[in-house]
Amino acid sequence: MDLDDKHEFARAGKIPAQAKTLWHGRFTGGPSESLLAYTVSLPYDQRMWRDDIIGSKAHVRGLARVGLLSDGERDSILEALDDVGIEMETGLFIFVDSDEDIHTAIERRVTELAPAGGKLHTGRSRNDQVATDLRLWCKRELRDVALRLVEMQEALLEQALEAGDAYLPGYTHLQRAQPVLLSHHLMAHGWSLGRDVSRLLDTIARLDVSPLGAGALAGSSLPLDPVGNAADLGFAKAFDNSLDAVSDRDFVAEAVFDLAMVGIHLARIGEEWVLWTSGEFGFARLDDGYATGSSMLPQKKNPDIAELARGKSGRLIGNLSGLLATLKGLPMAYNRDLQEDKEPLFDSVEQVTLAVAALTGMIATATFDTERMQAAADEETMAATDLAEYLVRGGMPFREAHAVVGAHVQACLAGAGSLADLVAADPLLGADGAALVRPGVGVSMRSSRGAAGPAARAEQVESYREMLRVEALSISEFLVGS
Ligand code: ARG
Repeated sequence: MDLDDKHEFARAGKIPAQAKTLWHGRFTGGPSESLLAYTVSLPYDQRMWRDDIIGSKAHVRGLARVGLLSDGERDSILEALDDVGIEMETGLFIFVDSDEDIHTAIERRVTELAPAGGKLHTGRSRNDQVATDLRLWCKRELRDVALRLVEMQEALLEQALEAGDAYLPGYTHLQRAQPVLLSHHLMAHGWSLGRDVSRLLDTIARLDVSPLGAGALAGSSLPLDPVGNAADLGFAKAFDNSLDAVSDRDFVAEAVFDLAMVGIHLARIGEEWVLWTSGEFGFARLDDGYATGSSMLPQKKNPDIAELARGKSGRLIGNLSGLLATLKGLPMAYNRDLQEDKEPLFDSVEQVTLAVAALTGMIATATFDTERMQAAADEETMAATDLAEYLVRGGMPFREAHAVVGAHVQACLAGAGSLADLVAADPLLGADGAALVRPGVGVSMRSSRGAAGPAARAEQVESYREMLRVEALSISEFLVGS
């Protein structure tokens, strides 16, 4: 049918004849073109085709188990579903105008391929079908994001180990505060990502419930087997309440939150790398493969990946707030509003996946200017806290020690001399105090558990590796379970 014919139909308020809706029996008129254009979800829910086929095959086996399909009917529908899978995989599947979503498209094609195809939707609604598909999709995709995050954690650890005893200023309020090991700083980001991995795995564990058999909203008069279907699909359990089963999208909101949180962590890394690669900081250099140039300024090397990681976090947060607003106030049970769960979810998964890959490469290939880092961290006043703690070890109350050292810093900044000289001349601090101001001494003073110096690092590297081991194990458990 060419475009002119389509417009003809639209003017007449009809759709093409082959575009038969799932509900045509109840209707005398066909849907308008604007309704179809507005309600269609196929362009984005196509990506669930694998899950729809897996869910439909379990449903078909379930119908046969309870005697609603003969073995022959079961096998012919299963074969048709496999054929549809091949058509999808190879791009040979032909969509038609009435394919409102991926579920409609696949069922339509099965009815074309198998005479018994009309029995596929027995005891099932798109409401439990779409919830089943989306949970299957989430289990696979969220696990994939978790795996990629582990790779990023590994890249951070590798750079941390490579960094040896290099140190840089640690900041509060983006003002130089105390020296920290570069390895400590890099691993700090790895720990945040560890919480992200754990959150994603928690989300997967909670969403591991099969809604298949809940029907449109109330279950069925037919002797369905939701528990058998759940086991067949590798879900931990079947739903307990049909209304909740078809309308619960907590798992989508949780997933989109988890991904927004990842986005916020990536944005923090992004912001730091924008600073570190600037001429002003000069702490890190990007590999050519992970930097961009300027169309006009020949000298430029720009950290676009880091900037986009920072910028796109806004979009991930937007996906979450948009979805929560959609879910708020929906009456039981299914409402078409719920179709709006997919785009934010798919977009968040896609954006986080792209960001993690690019940032992992950027971090793994970057080099550090450790001399510049250390020069910045060796600024004399960075030793102020160590000087105060020296006085504390001698019995002075910390408040008093803070004031004594603060006065030396003030004098130093006012031009009275170097801090080392001022400290050496103070009988309370003397040569021992002056030694604390020497380059490289400060970072070695940070020795308490989890601290930023070399003494505490070995233990941290061990627990970081333990985190990676536990993550790998938990992720592989989900692989076995599904
Ligand atoms: N594409 C729809 C969705 O994602 C399918 C469900 C439509 N269900 C219905 N009762 N109209 O939610």
